[in-house]
Amino acid sequence: METVAYIVVMVKRGYRRIGIGTELVKTLIDLARERGFKLIHFPVFERNVAARRLYSKLGFREVGRIPKGFYRDGEFMDEILMAMELPEPGDQA
Ligand SMILES: CC(C)(COP(=O)(O)OP(=O)(O)OC[C@H]1O[C@@H](n2cnc3c(N)ncnc32)[C@H](O)[C@@H]1OP(=O)(O)O)[C@@H](O)C(=O)NCCC(=O)NCCS
Repeated sequence: METVAYIVVMVKRGYRRIGIGTELVKTLIDLARERGFKLIHFPVFERNVAARRLYSKLGFREVGRIPKGFYRDGEFMDEILMAMELPEPGDQA
C-alpha cells in the first residue's frame, strides 16, 4: 500500500487566477485521502510563487529544501518540498 502521494497540477495560460488550480488541488487531496494515502508531497522550485502560495493556502507546509535541486533556463535554483498530512478517512478534516 502506497502511503505518500506526489501531485503536480498545471492550469493552461489564460485560465489562471480564477480558482481552477485551487479546485484541482482540493479534488486531488480528497482523492488521495479516500484512497488511503497518509501524506501528500509536492516538489516546487523556489521561485514558483504562484504554486507555493496556492499550496500554502490549502494547508501544505514546507518540509524540506534541496539546494540547487532544479536546473532551468541556464541556472540552478532550490527545490522546495511541500507536504500535507492527511487525516484518516472518516476523521474530521
Ligand atoms: C500554480 C497554478 C497551478 C495555479 O493555478 P490557478 O488556477 O491560477 O490558481 P487559483 O486561481 O486557484 O489561485 C489560488 C491562489 O494561488 C495563488 N496564486 C495563483 N497564481 C498566482 C500568481 N501568479 N502570483 C501569486 N500568487 C498566485 C494566490 O494565492 C491565489 O489566490 P488568490 O487568487 O485568491 O490570490 C498555475 O499558476 C500554473 O499552472 N502554473 C504553472 C504550472 C505550475 O507551476 N504547477 C505547479 C508546480 S509543478
